[in-house]
Amino acid sequence: MNILVINGSPQKEKSVTLHYVLFIKKFLNQHDFTFLHISDFDKPNFECIKDKIIKADAIIWSFPVYFFSIPAQLKFIIEQIFDNGLDTYFKGKYASAVSTSIKLYDSMAHKYIHAISEQMGLLFFDGFSAEINDIFNKKERERLKQYALTFTDFALSKKQIHPSFSYVQKAMPPLYDAPKKASENLFQGLNNALVLYTNDFYNSETHESLYLLKQHSVKGHYINFSEEKFGFCTGCLQCGYDNKCSRNDGFDIFFKTYTTHADPLIFIIEARDLIISHKWKIFIDRIFFNGHIPMFQNKRAGIIITGTMPDYSIVVPYLELWCKAHGATLCGTVIKELSKNHFESDLSSLLSKIDTHIKNNYISPPSSESITVKHIVSSYVNLDLKPIFYADKTYYKKPFDLKSFGKSFTIHIRNFFLLLLLRIPSIRKAFYKKMVYFRTKKFSTLIDKEGN
Ligand SMILES: Cc1cc2nc3c(=O)[nH]c(=O)nc-3n(C[C@H](O)[C@H](O)[C@H](O)COP(=O)(O)O)c2cc1C
Repeated sequence: MNILVINGSPQKEKSVTLHYVLFIKKFLNQHDFTFLHISDFDKPNFECIKDKIIKADAIIWSFPVYFFSIPAQLKFIIEQIFDNGLDTYFKGKYASAVSTSIKLYDSMAHKYIHAISEQMGLLFFDGFSAEINDIFNKKERERLKQYALTFTDFALSKKQIHPSFSYVQKAMPPLYDAPKKASENLFQGLNNALVLYTNDFYNSETHESLYLLKQHSVKGHYINFSEEKFGFCTGCLQCGYDNKCSRNDGFDIFFKTYTTHADPLIFIIEARDLIISHKWKIFIDRIFFNGHIPMFQNKRAGIIITGTMPDYSIVVPYLELWCKAHGATLCGTVIKELSKNHFESDLSSLLSKIDTHIKNNYISPPSSESITVKHIVSSYVNLDLKPIFYADKTYYKKPFDLKSFGKSFTIHIRNFFLLLLLRIPSIRKAFYKKMVYFRTKKFSTLIDKEGN
């Protein structure tokens, strides 16, 4: 079988992920492997890409997880594949994906590559998501070999694969009847907004959104990211030491200038190929110059999605995850295409929600997304990756706190004696009988004292 590996890492031949594929190649020596390093294409050579696709029996997408999805470079190539009609050459071939990451929402990236593969007509077999260092573990190398065999066996057998994504159906319309007329409210609270948008594909809808925001007195900075000439994140990690991007093109200053004092953040996002446009992904990837520090804490955010797509079940959870992982209080998402003739009213209600949050100084509690990020990243940047992500120490290094140490010490002592006592059946029975009472007693005592 001829397997075409589409290497989506900006690190090209130095890609960690590519080394996982090279390991597979060595093991599957009865098959031929061809490589397409997409970061080599400043201007994609479509004849060369087309030729390689036509000759391939199977495709392996090889990519690092970048902000819970694929790198902007790979997204750009996917846009080019559709724009140049190359998707037809993928039809009916088997496909899979290999990624490496620190396993932070890697499943979201795989879900996307699975869905977009099916939209190209590929028969997508499950992907393989490895943790960066898995290959150094014998058991994991075995697993990688088993995966490679399973995929190629399946592809050779020419078995059918039932598509997993219902991308031919639009997302559910809202169950209630939204008011057709926008409310007359003018929003006093939104004087300090950052409205960030691109207009690479869907000018009219983006412009309609901008017009409505201005009509609703949303004041602050309106920034068209399409007019900014910022390139892709190269994944060099040099920013890890001091938060300085090696590209030196001013993205860090741009980002800080417009986001530091802005609240709310309103993102008008062009959707394409089941997710966001590559230009938006450039913005998302480039924030990596800040390492793993969440950048939208104590800010309210709203998302407006423009464009036309068969399905919104990937882009909406993706963007919500992105905002929440950065610590934003996400007030809502409006999808232009689904809002249809009540877009103005939907937008108005989103603004009204943001406005009420700001008036009441309300910031939502940390989301499970932001807590997950903190826990996983913390285990890396305080240990294995500490020298690389030295700059993360300001956020991830907890100073030694005598008070909390003392508290955890007393809890350990309490647990020790309590667990000893619980070995006695009569005490255990009495304990569990009274436990709920004692737990809730604390709550009701507090409410009696403070709850007015
Ligand atoms: C810009 C950027 C964003 C990243 N985002 C994620 C992420 O969302 N989840 C994750 O688990 N790892 C993330 N990582 C870690 C990479 O996925 C990981 O280092 C990967 O092994 C790099 O592979 P490569 O050498 O093939 O490019 C990110 C790395 C960079 C540079």
